[in-house]
Amino acid sequence: MIAIGSDHGGFALKEEIKKHLDQRQIPYEDFGAYSTDSVDYPLIAQKTCAAIVSGKCEKGILCCGTGIGISMAANKIKGIRAALCADYYSAKYTRLHNDANVICMGGRTIGPGLALELVDVFLATPFEGGRHARRVEQLAKLEEE
Ligand code: RB5
Repeated sequence: MIAIGSDHGGFALKEEIKKHLDQRQIPYEDFGAYSTDSVDYPLIAQKTCAAIVSGKCEKGILCCGTGIGISMAANKIKGIRAALCADYYSAKYTRLHNDANVICMGGRTIGPGLALELVDVFLATPFEGGRHARRVEQLAKLEEE
């Protein structure tokens, strides 16, 4: 199960991504926004990421206008490794090397064509482990400080 969320700035992109997930028969839960009405991205990040931290969803997709605010919010939540991506290489390597569990994108900065490619590679790529596992563990330790 994928957790998906956006504010008003990422709403249109989130809807495109949901159509794509439907076509690929990938189950998801939508944590809002449910319209283009203004909504605060930290609250959406909090709700969406709670579903990942609880284990209900294994990965998340978050969108705001730039992807920046919602990624900042997501990365404040313990257990979340959110990556703001606007290129294919980053979306792939944040899975391989960072074991990112959330991809963030900007609805006002990238188009749906690229965003769907990023979603596909993010969801398909496994964590490489090895020396990267040590670094991910070090990230978790930073949360304790
Ligand atoms: C909302 O106008 C906008 O600030 C938000 O979507 C996002 O870009 C923040 O980082």
